[in-house]
Amino acid sequence: MRERLVVSVAGKGGVGKTTTSALLTRAVIEMTKRSLLVVDADPVMNLPRALGIEIPLSVGDIATRLRKSIDEGSLDGEIAKQDVLEGEIFESLVETDKFDFLAMGRTEGEGCYCYVNRLLTQIIDTLSKNYELTLMDMSAGLEHLSRRTNRNVDVLVLVVDPSRAAFEAAVRIRDLAKEVHIDFKKIVVVGNRFPPGMEEELRGRLEEVGLPLFGIIPNDEELAKVNYLGSPLIELTSDSPAVKAVDEIAEKLGLLSEATMLKLLGKIG
Ligand SMILES: Nc1ncnc2c1ncn2[C@@H]1O[C@H](COP(=O)(O)OP(=O)(O)OP(=O)(O)O)[C@@H](O)[C@H]1O
Ligand SMILES: [Mg+2]
Repeated sequence: MRERLVVSVAGKGGVGKTTTSALLTRAVIEMTKRSLLVVDADPVMNLPRALGIEIPLSVGDIATRLRKSIDEGSLDGEIAKQDVLEGEIFESLVETDKFDFLAMGRTEGEGCYCYVNRLLTQIIDTLSKNYELTLMDMSAGLEHLSRRTNRNVDVLVLVVDPSRAAFEAAVRIRDLAKEVHIDFKKIVVVGNRFPPGMEEELRGRLEEVGLPLFGIIPNDEELAKVNYLGSPLIELTSDSPAVKAVDEIAEKLGLLSEATMLKLLGKIG
């Protein structure tokens, strides 16, 4: 079977996870014909706007509905629940010319959602097998990272901005991933909005904690403008400094070519 690459983008709140995810998506669809599933795993759901798409229904909406049916007793048996959820989630998949998109959203109500969350995780696992690439924009929490079954090649991209809190959050996420036995084949760091000259300082500090620096995204005025206007980030042109930087990161991650991906796999194998 061909390798499937699943890239999750995580980090402290506001460091640039959604920006990175949107620009990685842009790189893949501009430069390749690879099949791509993009998942917004953050309940706040900022990624659809960054990608210029509308989401009629999130997975969370569907799960909430399912939970109500369970509570009302109108659904019996494990198989029925899984079938209903799976069928409906496939319906909530937004298909564009260049990529497919799924928004996790949030489940409403009180109590433990472990059961529904577990189903959701399984469904993403199943779904991502249909794509060469899956890109996930995570929330600052890690709820959808945990309890993954053995999937494809998992790569974790930790985004940090120039703050101690962002650095510490990245280390914490790496440690947590280990604790809950999520087997990332590779964990890399991307520095966002680092002023010129601070790159080496970041690289050195990351080395001390055993994390590799994979790239730097500069602060980008054009990006800020586009974002302020609420226009899709995906429409930024290739002369934007942030776009250029993320294109390089996409290549290094193996998102743009099978060859680089295999090299990455060889290194990590
Ligand atoms: N390189 C950059 N240049 C200019 N502005 C940026 C850059 N990176 C991020 N921003 C801006 O910073 C803000 C936060 O970025 P973003 O939404 O990508 O962060 P996030 O980590 O996804 O946040 P959250 O934790 O809230 O989901 C946005 O307004 C975004 O436009
Ligand atoms: Mg975000």
